[in-house]
Amino acid sequence: MKMKDGFLWGGATAANQFEGGWNKGGKGPSSADMMTGGTHTSPRRITPILEEDTYYPSHEAIDFYGHYKEDIKMFGEMGFKTFRLSIAWSRIFPKGYELEPNEEGLKFYDNVFDELRKNNIEPLVTISHYETPFGLTQKYNGWASREVIECYVRYCDVIFKRYKNKVKYWLTFNEINILTIPFGAFLGGGIIADDKENTNQLRFQALHHQFIASARAVKLGHKINPNFKIGCMIAYMCSYPNTCNPDDILLAQKKDQISNMLCGDVQVRGCYPCFAKRFFEENGIRIVMEDGDQKILKDGIVDFYSFSYYMSTVVSADQNLEIAKGNLLNEVKNPYLETSDWGWQIDPKGLRWSLNNIYDRYQIPLMVVENGFGAVDTVKEDGSINDDYRINYLKNHIIQMEEAVKDGVNLMGYTMWGCIDLVSAGTGEMKKRYGFIYVDKDNDGKGTLKRIKKDSFEWYKNVIETNGEVALNITDKK
Ligand code: BG6
Repeated sequence: MKMKDGFLWGGATAANQFEGGWNKGGKGPSSADMMTGGTHTSPRRITPILEEDTYYPSHEAIDFYGHYKEDIKMFGEMGFKTFRLSIAWSRIFPKGYELEPNEEGLKFYDNVFDELRKNNIEPLVTISHYETPFGLTQKYNGWASREVIECYVRYCDVIFKRYKNKVKYWLTFNEINILTIPFGAFLGGGIIADDKENTNQLRFQALHHQFIASARAVKLGHKINPNFKIGCMIAYMCSYPNTCNPDDILLAQKKDQISNMLCGDVQVRGCYPCFAKRFFEENGIRIVMEDGDQKILKDGIVDFYSFSYYMSTVVSADQNLEIAKGNLLNEVKNPYLETSDWGWQIDPKGLRWSLNNIYDRYQIPLMVVENGFGAVDTVKEDGSINDDYRINYLKNHIIQMEEAVKDGVNLMGYTMWGCIDLVSAGTGEMKKRYGFIYVDKDNDGKGTLKRIKKDSFEWYKNVIETNGEVALNITDKK
């Protein structure tokens, strides 16, 4: 099985997790810059003021800011057709609400895009990836306020015009549906709210603001360059019913509707779905809309649907069952699946199911923009890193992706998450590594930042070279 010509193979990252240079070149702090490190068992903290002697992993991250040429060269060596990165909004507008952009920040991305072009790599840019300028949190409590829409649109106007001839593929918001869960308030919305304040009302209103911002960005982008392809990005939560008990079936359906489809429908179809009304009523949510909002949503539908997929989950109406611990969702354990060291249930077939489910509903091109395996890697004495477990994970997911294409799904591309080791968004660790490229840095921020190819580097190179003939694995090769 091969993918169609022009299939966009590549890797994905986000500025706050790999770029570093958090206060260099005029950059202001982002929400991510206010988050401490953490571990699997001790969660990251949000500090409204930077604390002395506290480690903030995004501040240096893996210093792509200082290593971009070297890193892009390695992506080029792997044969990447595309590279997903985000623009750090606060590098362009340090506080988020200024009227004029920061030229030094714009220049940095000029350099990055030029370097990508030199290596024949098409950039895929996330406009906002969990890194709202912290100035917007301080002034407006982030996306809780409608005012932030104007700031976002101004930022889009600047980057769309500046990179008009350098970037074709854009994503308006990373995992926009993260705002449907409490964990997403700060991460996705730059909103500071304690447990009592972190209500559905707050988050779904903020989500509405992002929908409007996204729709306006799509319309604006198409006006600036009609060839732009602008997509949505959803954290796809594939939820199976635990049993054939109709209560479980209905629960899984509800979960799919609220977690996945609500955002997909607004961004792809341009209106809230029919099931939203009852959900809002039953959960005390009243979306404040302005005149014209519905038209804005209709006029700003996306060109393609992109999503992240790491695992599947199981839901049950029975509250007494054993919970499977992942970093976002606490749902029921699936006895048929193995889990990663971080408790994520590994389910390649769930990717095939998801691709079919999404494509059946929307019938527009899809792209898997995040998928990968977070694991502890060990550098052997000879300097090599054997990561067969990662190869297996990726291979099995790519096989299922290819099955979905055989099923009839129109798939544009695949960007593996964290193609170079980076800071974990959920836990703030470096120890949870995803990359084909190892970066010498630990959870406390110590290390030389040296880049080392893992075994999966050559393997993925082969996948791209053969356009998806993934049967070859590392053990076949030896
Ligand atoms: C996605 C995010 O949810 O999952 C990424 O878009 C994140 O930013 C990725 O890094 C993996 O999660 P984690 O917690 O392992 O970094």
